[in-house]
Amino acid sequence: MQLDVVTLFPDYLEPLRLSLVGRAIERGTVRLAVHDLRDWTHDRHRTVDDTPYGGGAGMVMRPEPWGECLDTLVPEPAHDTGGPRLVVFTPSGRRFDQRLADELAGEDRLILACGRYEGIDARVVPYARTRMRVDEVSLGDYVLNGGEAAALVVIEAVVRLLPGVIGNPESLAEESHSAGHDHLLEYPIYTKPPSWRGLDVPEVLFSGHHGQIAAWRRDRALELTAERRPDLLPDDRRGEFAIAAAVA
Ligand code: ADE
Repeated sequence: MQLDVVTLFPDYLEPLRLSLVGRAIERGTVRLAVHDLRDWTHDRHRTVDDTPYGGGAGMVMRPEPWGECLDTLVPEPAHDTGGPRLVVFTPSGRRFDQRLADELAGEDRLILACGRYEGIDARVVPYARTRMRVDEVSLGDYVLNGGEAAALVVIEAVVRLLPGVIGNPESLAEESHSAGHDHLLEYPIYTKPPSWRGLDVPEVLFSGHHGQIAAWRRDRALELTAERRPDLLPDDRRGEFAIAAAVA
């Protein structure tokens, strides 16, 4: 997968060179290119922002550097051909979740646009849509100083789904929010010692009975999800799941 990140703070993305994502880059599973938006400015001060039309606080990112940058990264319109997909980070975007991570992990190339200040001039996204597929994406219902922290999160969530990045692919199927786990929260997990500070590992986990263990884990996952995140229970099976969780 090719990842292009456009930012005013290229150093912000350096932690991606560490750990699992770093190893995926070293192995060539991921090609990461971090671009400084100021490389597409033409004035002495490398200006990327200006005051908002209509007044108001703060500064807005001017469209020209973004336009030139996108033209460089994607010289030919490619929105019909499965070309690159552009992710623009904004608190007013589609909420990022595991489903979107799964979807993005299927792409060959992602371009991640990190806005700063009050955001990017509103003409940039419609322009980009004439050339490529675009998703405006929010990390959650809070405001960050810019898209860089969101890019770190999205890249980590997506890259770990690529084949060969995680040692044991079975761990992907079992974890919270994964499709293989019906998008439920994960059941509680334990390791040695069997008893610690008066707290015991549940007996069933020593039984060696795979069916019973799987049923226990499913019940705990349902119970936890019904308690903490009932919104995650699938609509058509909410009643059934809620009853199973209540009985468990
Ligand atoms: N930029 C500022 N706030 C953001 C958020 N919540 N998600 C994504 N990008 C952002």
